[in-house]
Parts: sequence; structure tokens; C-alpha cells
Amino acid sequence: MIPTLEWLPTGVNFLDQTKLPLEETYVLATDYKQVATVIRDMIVRGAPAIGVSAAMGMAIGIDRSTAKTLPALTEEVAVIAKTLAETRPTAVNLFWGIDEIRNLYNNLAAKNTPIPEIKSAVVAKARRMYDEDIAACKQMGAHGASLLPQEGTVLTHCNAGALATCGYGSALGVIRAAIERGHKIDVFADETRPFLQGARLTAWELMKDNIPTTVLCDNMAAALMRQGRIQAVIVGADRIAANGDVANKIGTYGVSILAKEHNIPFYVAAPWSTLDLATSHGDLIPIEQRSATEVTHSNGRQMTPHGVAIENPAFDVTPAKYVTAIITEHGVLRAPYEQSIQSMAKQNLSEPELATTS
Ligand code: MRU
Repeated sequence: MIPTLEWLPTGVNFLDQTKLPLEETYVLATDYKQVATVIRDMIVRGAPAIGVSAAMGMAIGIDRSTAKTLPALTEEVAVIAKTLAETRPTAVNLFWGIDEIRNLYNNLAAKNTPIPEIKSAVVAKARRMYDEDIAACKQMGAHGASLLPQEGTVLTHCNAGALATCGYGSALGVIRAAIERGHKIDVFADETRPFLQGARLTAWELMKDNIPTTVLCDNMAAALMRQGRIQAVIVGADRIAANGDVANKIGTYGVSILAKEHNIPFYVAAPWSTLDLATSHGDLIPIEQRSATEVTHSNGRQMTPHGVAIENPAFDVTPAKYVTAIITEHGVLRAPYEQSIQSMAKQNLSEPELATTS
């Protein structure tokens, strides 16, 4: 299994995704500030992996705190949460990961639990979230595998694989599950400019699993769809609004329109932690703007004239009407998404969780 991130006695160890595919090196974060840097600099990336990293950042921050009283520790927890929350704005899993640990902390602190017990409880919870993420990916695979063709080529955009989760992957997990069940699937991986998650990461991890993979430039999918060479599209998500609009890596929206035009199913695979029931529609999702140098430079070499204007939104929003189905660990959602999401929420969220989303 690909060790995207790992809790160690010495800290949280991250596979440095900025160095892939050429170097397999690790970055050990020994405090919460380093975890925040790792998330901001995209050493770890992908919504589910970011969520568990944030939880581990909260846990390491609380565990390493030298605060002697609960009020002092509570003040520190607020600073830790704020630091982590300011790293990346779009993937809602980040805020979910922070909240899971903060809620546990608040419950234990309200009962005057001794600090050493709180520390063990938050570390245990963050480690459990890691295992639960892998289990959720496997469940998405089980629910989604039969949606993919028995034989054919599936297009994916960005990296929604083992590297974007704690293992197995969301979109790539569904592909893996289909192949494990006997489907003969080849993958087209969009290169995903400008950060090249498809060319560098999706291709790397699928090749490790001997899954036939071809990298496409981002502008090639339309021609290949027209030639009948793509039977399905599957992507991950960074945030799904209550009406089923999907924020994912920039370029996803265009692919969804192409899929619709060519009558190709367009699937989204995401764990429930990616659902944001408090956001009614996609236009309200904050879109991260990243540095111009990601666009102007390639491998350290400048590719554009000095001083030219640059846009670099890291994500776009695919309207729900282009989404054939959303695959979660709890089952497959279909349109109308407002209703199907609400009814899945009722089956899977506790009363207090539901109350905070309405
Ligand atoms: O900027 P990134 O690399 O964090 O963006 C990642 C994506 O857009 C993924 O498709 C998404 O997080 C889903 S990962 C299972």
C-alpha cells in the first residue's frame, strides 16, 4: 500500500507528493505548524488526505502542548485549529478533520477530563480516522465498481487515488475495485495542469498497481470522446454542495460538459466528509487561487513572457446536472440530488449533526 501519511511516535510522516514521480521521499512533521505547512505546500493533497492530515495536526498540537491547565490548553486548541484552517479553503474535509478533533476535545474538556487522558483520546481518534478513510474508500469501490464498464477506457482528472486519501483512493478506488471484480479497464489520466496531479501522481500510482494507464494533455479528451475511445469518466471531489454541485480540480467542469455532449456517464466518488450540507449550491464554494508561478514555470523554467497576466484558480464547480451519480461509502446518490443527499444524511448523521447543517 502507498503510505501517503502515517502517524509515528516521532510525528506525522508524509510522502512528499511534490517530488513524485521521480523521488520517493518523506517529510516528518513534528508539530502542528509543520503539518499546516505540509498541507499548504501540497506535500500532502487531495481532500480526504487533507482531512485526516488536519485531524492529525490537531492531535499532534494537543499531544505536544505543554499547557498545565484546561483553560490554557483550550486557548491553544483554538490557535491550532485556526492555523490549520487557514491552509487551504476549498476541500471541506480540512474543516471536517479539524472539527472532529475539536468536538472531541470540547466534550472531554467539558467533563474536566485529565489532560493526559485527553491527549491519548485525540491521538487515538485521529489514528482511527485514518483507518476509517481507507474503509470508506473500499466501500466506495464496492458501491461503484458495477457502474464502470465491463471492458473499456475510463477517463479521470487530477488524482483521486491512494495518494489523495489514506489509501486505495476514491475515484481510483472505484477503478481498482472494478478491476478486482474482473472488469478490463484501461485508464486515461488527464495531466491536470498546472500542478500535474494526473501526469505525476495518478500515472505513478496506477503503474505501481499494473493498471494500464495513458496520460493525456488536458485538451485531448474531446477528440478521444468523439472517437468513442472513452466509456466513462470518474473523478473525486473537494466539496459537494447540498444540491449536488461538485467542486473539484480545475478542468473537471469542462470534462463534465464534454461527457454530457458525448453521452458518456460522469461519476463522482467522494467520502461523506466531502458533503457540505451547510452550503446550498456550488457558487458559494470558496475557490482557492494559487500562485502565478505554478502557471508561468515548468520544472523551474519560465514558460511565459515576463509580466504577462496569469489566472490560477485551483478548482472549478461542476453543476449537479452534469453528474450521472455520486458514489459515497454509504451508497450511490442520483438526481435529484437535493432529495437523495438529504435522505442519505438522515440515514447516516446523528440528530445534532443534522441540526447544525440545516
Ligand atoms: O489541489 P489538490 O491536489 O489537493 O486537488 C485534489 C483534487 O482536486 C482531487 O480530485 C480531490 O481532492 C479528490 S481526492 C480523492
